[in-house]
Amino acid sequence: LKPVNIGLCGLGTVGGGTLTVLKRNLLDINAHAGKSVVLTHIGARRDNPAFDLSGIKVSRDVFAVADDPEVDILVELIGGTSVAKELVLRAVRSGKHVVTANKALIAEFGNELFAEAAKHNVVIAYEAAVAGGIPIIRAMREGLAANKIEWLAGIINGTGNFILTEMRDKGRAFEDVLKEAQELGYAEADPTFDVEGIDAAHKLVILASIAFGMPLQFDKVFTEGISTISTEDVAYAGELGYQVKHLGITRKRPNQGIELRVHPTLIPNSRLIANVDGVMNAVLVKGDAVGPTLYYGPGAGAEPTASAVVSDIVDVSRLVGAESGSSVPHLGFALDKLVDYPI
Ligand code: HSE
Repeated sequence: LKPVNIGLCGLGTVGGGTLTVLKRNLLDINAHAGKSVVLTHIGARRDNPAFDLSGIKVSRDVFAVADDPEVDILVELIGGTSVAKELVLRAVRSGKHVVTANKALIAEFGNELFAEAAKHNVVIAYEAAVAGGIPIIRAMREGLAANKIEWLAGIINGTGNFILTEMRDKGRAFEDVLKEAQELGYAEADPTFDVEGIDAAHKLVILASIAFGMPLQFDKVFTEGISTISTEDVAYAGELGYQVKHLGITRKRPNQGIELRVHPTLIPNSRLIANVDGVMNAVLVKGDAVGPTLYYGPGAGAEPTASAVVSDIVDVSRLVGAESGSSVPHLGFALDKLVDYPI
């Protein structure tokens, strides 16, 4: 079988983690893919001295990776939405599949990008865009495919949960913990996305579109962050037997459309989700057949996010050379079957 050539754009936290995981677990990755996966081209504005890139073509211009005819799958890990959108479009239009961790890109431009990918018979995979290392997108698209999803709720921002946990356990100030989250590579390039709920809103809208089979509607999410929560608030909640948790919630109400909201909540200590601490994420999904299910794991960080990126590389590698890439629908629903529910 012909090897699958990977072009990786971006060598930041997630890009670095992806390099590390690809290298360390290459034999297993190839066994899972059923063919050999080779990293042939990296696009990064600057070198990252932590990595040995010998034998790999390196371009300063990420578009050189999209234009490289040898590359089968472009992995977009540059973040942001302007250059990333152009890069993904360029890759798709040149017949490359795309793997991305970019939730802002998918939440805001996914409808357009998926339509373009379908036109070119390629897929855009984005497992790493939601809940870091938890394979929640695969769980919903595949594991729960028999169900009508009634609602889902989750802690889907690792930075925010880390801040709330440190405030509770150590009485630390908000700003001090946020700085540590940035140093640990948990936070977004612009951390207001984490603390104002925007990152969680991006993720919620992606989950809702998969859960209910509807187009992405980021501008409809009610969004409130944790920036107004103080150490005292967290302590008082604790005295009353509650945890302050920032949740993303979506629910389908019969004949009333879809609820989409992210905001801080008070959860009784007895609930499983009240005990999800630090950078961990957890998503509860209620299906009509299966009942309530819970998915738990690290929601941010280099290797956990890389775990999801590489799982997509494996999955999409199986499609390379197959006749119809677009037989894998991007939202788990055929694009022409999506319903525009009121929100
Ligand atoms: N900043 C994000 C978080 C990274 O803290 O959850 C993972 O999407």
